[in-house]
Amino acid sequence: METSNTSFILAYFILLLVIQQVQSAWINHDVYLKCLQSQNSNSISKVAYTPKNSSFSSILLSAEQNLRPASTSPLKPTLILTPFHESHIQAAIYCAKKQGIQIRVRSGGHDYEGLSYTSPSKHPFVIVDLRNFSSISIDTESSTAWIQGGATLGELYHKIAENSKTLAFAAGVCPTVGVGGHFSGGGYGMMSRKFGLAVDHIIDAKIIDVNGRILDRQSMGEDLFWAIRGGGGGTFGIIIAWKVELLPVPEIITVFNLTKTLDQNATQLLHKWQYIADKIDPNLLIRPRITNVNSSQNGKITLQATFNSLFLGGVDELLSVMNRSFPELSLVKEDCTEMSWIESILFFAGFATSESVDVLLSRTLLGIAYFKGKSDFVKQPISENGLEAIWKRMLEEVDGLVEMEFSPYGGRLSEISEYATPFPHRAGNIYMLHYGAVWGSSSESEEKLTWIRRLYSYMASYVSSSPREAYVNYRDLDLGVNNDGNHPSYKAASIWGTKYFKNNFERLVHIKTEVDPSDFFRNEQSIPPFSS
Ligand code: FDA
Repeated sequence: METSNTSFILAYFILLLVIQQVQSAWINHDVYLKCLQSQNSNSISKVAYTPKNSSFSSILLSAEQNLRPASTSPLKPTLILTPFHESHIQAAIYCAKKQGIQIRVRSGGHDYEGLSYTSPSKHPFVIVDLRNFSSISIDTESSTAWIQGGATLGELYHKIAENSKTLAFAAGVCPTVGVGGHFSGGGYGMMSRKFGLAVDHIIDAKIIDVNGRILDRQSMGEDLFWAIRGGGGGTFGIIIAWKVELLPVPEIITVFNLTKTLDQNATQLLHKWQYIADKIDPNLLIRPRITNVNSSQNGKITLQATFNSLFLGGVDELLSVMNRSFPELSLVKEDCTEMSWIESILFFAGFATSESVDVLLSRTLLGIAYFKGKSDFVKQPISENGLEAIWKRMLEEVDGLVEMEFSPYGGRLSEISEYATPFPHRAGNIYMLHYGAVWGSSSESEEKLTWIRRLYSYMASYVSSSPREAYVNYRDLDLGVNNDGNHPSYKAASIWGTKYFKNNFERLVHIKTEVDPSDFFRNEQSIPPFSS
């Protein structure tokens, strides 16, 4: 009898606790929404979604480009705002400060750790989703473009091609990546050997700062303008627009995707590639990708190397470059296709070139799955034996897709000083490595994470050290987090910060201290101010 009384009292208190928590969550939504309305009563209600709204889940999920972070960070946003006017963003900042809530800005939602739509440290947050901030204006006369912070790369490439056959932009391959996050971290793509990164061509920007001010390059000053071009998203304010210079490309360029299995000497070819990757004609970028496949001979899992390549010129010129510098690949005319730059965007994004370029306007990634990525930088070629030992580790994982991508350096990418932008990985690198694992269900997460972490750990002797460099756009929380996402200490942040930014980390901290001393814009890997 006594036991059942105790159980009843315990259950009663648990129920009370749950009711209180649910109530306080609802109150937060309502208080935040009321604050927004008081700031901007006219139109903001139409673009503010609380969990009470039937569209809340679909809006939240529509730009969650990786299922893994959401599966491990169950806390949902207090509210999602999809602003279409600057004043909506200003209101969001004002009310978040007032209520002690964090803001997660989302542009394309491709953050590797989902920091634009989750809070691993479980701090209440609102999402400012910039999907309605996606207009782009092209000025062919000055070869420049203004791009709103929520536009995707696909939308940008589409708009450029609509206006010109000989202008382009050098940025990432996946069309659904957003310019808000991508340009904030660097932006590597198939023309990076010729032109460098996306950040190397940003000439102006508009940001809303912690005080709600709208600043352009002149009013923000050169320090902040430097910091936002590679210092990582979510740290300095909300970028509402970028101005970039567009880049000249020939009307006809050439692409090839040559695939070789281990039986077809993939290892020897990749070994040789390391000696030409960063030295070959900068009009040519050859980006090998190693993936696991079923062998056509015995059905067992093997690896194949796909040499994804873009050449800014015609096929005959490409063949003469290849015969001179990389004859071992035995490239022939039939392997190559001449096309326009915009068709090459479709090609590398995996679409048929006959597909309408309008597919680039879709903001939804095909086949969303669980994903983990990591990065490294390689400064010395890896021996054939070394590569074979690495393949052994890759082959330990047989289910799901695993990949290693080798992104070559050299050309313009290596000419730019490591201090010109916060992105410091310049001269001295032969290539950047990307490790990826993709899987279909949360039950596989532990196994896949163990696999990728073991491979990364094994790679230590082949890659950069002191610091072991990493690319901030391939965000990796295994490198360290800021005191669980609460006010970070400089020391904790410098562990991951020097890997992403090397000596530029210190300057980024100085700038953060100047522009956002209270550390309002923060996440698990944002630059901290000195005081925190
Ligand atoms: P998301 O919206 O998730 O934002 C990323 C970070 O930036 C978050 O911290 C967010 O809060 C912040 N942020 C977003 N908008 C902001 C704004 N307007 N102002 C301030 N902060 C903002 N990289 C590469 O260099 N080359 C490539 O080819 C590819 N390809 C690629 C393919 C796929 C499928 C994925 C998932 C990722 C890539 N990437 C890549 C990596 C990509 O560059 C990186 O994930 C970007 O940060 C994504 O930017 P989004 O705006 O899409 O992400």
